[in-house]
Amino acid sequence: MASEKTFYLETFGCQMNAHDSEKVIGTLHQQGYRQVGNEEDAGLILYNTCSIRDKAEQKVFNRLNDYKKLHKAGKRFGVLGCVAQQEGEKIFERAPYVSLVSGSASYRKLPEMLRRLEAGETRITGLDDRQTDETFETEFAARTNPYRAYITIIEGCDKFCAYCVVPYTRGKERSRGSNSVLDEARRIADQGFTEIQLLGQNVNSYRDPEGKRSFAELLATVGQVEGIRRVRFMTSHPRDFTRDIVDVIDAVPALCDHVHLPVQSGSTKILQAMARDYTVEWYLERIAWIKAARRSISLSTDIIVGFPGETPDDLIQTMDLLAQVEYDCVFGFKYSARPNTPALTMIDSIPETEKASRLQVLLDRQREIQRVNYAKHLGQVMEVMVEGYNPAREQVTGRSSQNKPVNFTCAQPIAPAPGSYVQVKITATHPNSLVGEAV
Ligand code: 5AD
Ligand code: SF4
Repeated sequence: MASEKTFYLETFGCQMNAHDSEKVIGTLHQQGYRQVGNEEDAGLILYNTCSIRDKAEQKVFNRLNDYKKLHKAGKRFGVLGCVAQQEGEKIFERAPYVSLVSGSASYRKLPEMLRRLEAGETRITGLDDRQTDETFETEFAARTNPYRAYITIIEGCDKFCAYCVVPYTRGKERSRGSNSVLDEARRIADQGFTEIQLLGQNVNSYRDPEGKRSFAELLATVGQVEGIRRVRFMTSHPRDFTRDIVDVIDAVPALCDHVHLPVQSGSTKILQAMARDYTVEWYLERIAWIKAARRSISLSTDIIVGFPGETPDDLIQTMDLLAQVEYDCVFGFKYSARPNTPALTMIDSIPETEKASRLQVLLDRQREIQRVNYAKHLGQVMEVMVEGYNPAREQVTGRSSQNKPVNFTCAQPIAPAPGSYVQVKITATHPNSLVGEAV
């Protein structure tokens, strides 16, 4: 390797991966590496990969293939994340120029793995799978977003939904001590961040290993850290959604007015086939708690269409659920069979084209629901956290507490800085965003 240690890191997939990358970058900095912006300039090329849907593995191999000539120039390759855990040592067979393969449950061993890499080893693996109870904590996360800081409070998943690779790629569920989470929250606040997002595959399945705080109590305590104005949490699992989470949102102003609660399907029959372990009625009871809050809490969800056995009638039930809950945002996905998962053995007989048309029908319906929901904000004044500026439209961009995108104009000659808070009056609405002017 060149005398100066440089790396290039590209991240695919979810928020958890994005924040894992921030921690990996911090760890590499600690080990004397400098980050560069492209593969050509780097001594070590890392891909932090995702395998939740589609042909994710193939994408990673294609990418490795595109750059394999760099191996001859002495550059080393590492595959991190879910594809690394899923494919394991098979990666060395398909891409022999890869020297490091590590899933997220082994990142705490990165310093050691890097030393072995530097010593010239060529087949280093971190594939702890579901064996580890440890979480990956580092003081040195390189926070790439200047105003929003992520904190992982729980890693892995023990739910084993029939379609999902996560329990196999991210290992078993393990929570981080609440005191350590709070220390990090305070450090983040001292550094000037005002928004914290608590992350976990099932964030509300959090169980303090120190036995000090429930998830709701942790939310309350983080929300009371001096300097923190917004706290979000993602993703909640309906099975572990307790009423005290709603109470604490009502009680602590810094907690945002938003809950992301993936339902996956509006048909109890399909939910059972998915091994989600709840019925539609049970889910709607949690929704009723959220809607009964004093604050107006916005709801979003994830839906999978075309799961094996889904009939047109099941889809109608999902559409009915959308209408009943009135979500502000829906992430819709076509079912895709994933390696190792129980659903792989079910007959996936719904053609791709049919899945695509079901998804379209669903998203079209949801768009109309959002058009009505968003229109209710016309004339309201709300606090917006500034995220950027769109020069083409001369609009400041940002988000409301409910997580709705707000684009607004400002009388001042200089746009407010990212991370600042502005009161905005809503003057127009769209199905996916609000438009306004600073007041
Ligand atoms: N196929 C389609 N969507 C999936 N998701 C997870 N696994 C699959 C799969 N095999 C979706 C779920 C989950 C979101 C993060 O991704 O809706 O909530
Ligand atoms: Fe996957 Fe289900 Fe775990 Fe979510 S709860 S990560 S969908 S297995």
